Amino acid sequence: MLYAIPALLLGLLLGLFLGKKQTTTPQTKEEDADKGIDLSKARLQTSPEQVRDFYNEYNDKFIQVYGEVIQAFRTHNVDKLLDYQIESMEMEEGMKMLDAGCGICGPASYFAKNKQVTINAITISDVQVEQAKALIQREGVEHLVKVQKGDYHKLPELFPANHFDRIYFLESFGHSFDQKKVLQGAWEVLKPGGVLYIKDLFRKIAALPGHQKRIDETIDTINEAYRYNISDLYRILHEVRKLGFIIMALKTIDIKVEDFENLTISNDFQELTGIGQIEDWNTYIFPIEFYELKCYKPVHDLANGTDKYFLQNMMYMQMQGVKEENL
Ligand SMILES: C[S@@+](CC[C@H](N)C(=O)[O-])C[C@H]1O[C@@H](n2cnc3c(N)ncnc32)[C@H](O)[C@@H]1O
Repeated sequence: MLYAIPALLLGLLLGLFLGKKQTTTPQTKEEDADKGIDLSKARLQTSPEQVRDFYNEYNDKFIQVYGEVIQAFRTHNVDKLLDYQIESMEMEEGMKMLDAGCGICGPASYFAKNKQVTINAITISDVQVEQAKALIQREGVEHLVKVQKGDYHKLPELFPANHFDRIYFLESFGHSFDQKKVLQGAWEVLKPGGVLYIKDLFRKIAALPGHQKRIDETIDTINEAYRYNISDLYRILHEVRKLGFIIMALKTIDIKVEDFENLTISNDFQELTGIGQIEDWNTYIFPIEFYELKCYKPVHDLANGTDKYFLQNMMYMQMQGVKEENL
């Protein structure tokens, strides 16, 4: 019986590769798979220039309230959040990382100092670049962290192909006006075997009838206030899979209740700036959920070593007509 399972799997895979003729054409399948899933259909579109102006204008207020780590979903002691992210990303000494949407490099400096990783950090805000440089120097990690102004929609223009071991977006991905382009660029500059990590807020799916409309209206307000484009989880999952990523983990951020900051900092920011202020907490329906998404770019070339995932090796061998004994 045990032998039957791999055999069944093999049969299934072979069926997938050899059986194309029996079903509809691949093109029709592709169209079906894409139906209703269009990343370009953002509810609101915000340009990188608008995001830049927003962070240039409000950077001081962000720092006043959030400190050096500009993340809403956080722990009281922010080091705990960053340690958790080190673990989640499976960071190892010497890795090459890209921090896409780095803020003032609070997280990047911490990762470099504690894990001895080298980091290219980009932000769209000139004001943040200057503050980040000062912070990097203060933390003594100039040899490990390099910050520059850059737009994460243009990653292949900024960095060589197949370059990074890790690419991470910490509450920054949702500023994108074209998430498909960002993911495509990340795929190109990530090494085979590398990991893309996104921690962000996603549109909540209503549990009660009538709530979805209100949730979506609130999301529009947040998007407008923060120059954001809160992602639809299903669309993102679809897009990363279409690019060839393997989803390693999609999970709620697993922080102990006693460590969790409760989002009061975000309220402080709203009170200080008037941005996105909630008028009536009694009728407010919380419109988002936070998730961490971890995606793996498989090693397609067996000449460079076998992939850690069995199915990827199998697919490669079948597509290239390679037999195991010839490896
Ligand atoms: C909420 S802050 C998070 C900052 C940082 N990840 C942290 O944890 O402190 C969002 C960041 O995304 C950056 N960002 C937004 N759109 C960007 C773009 N198109 N290219 C590069 N950075 C961008 C902003 O400049 C800002 O630094």
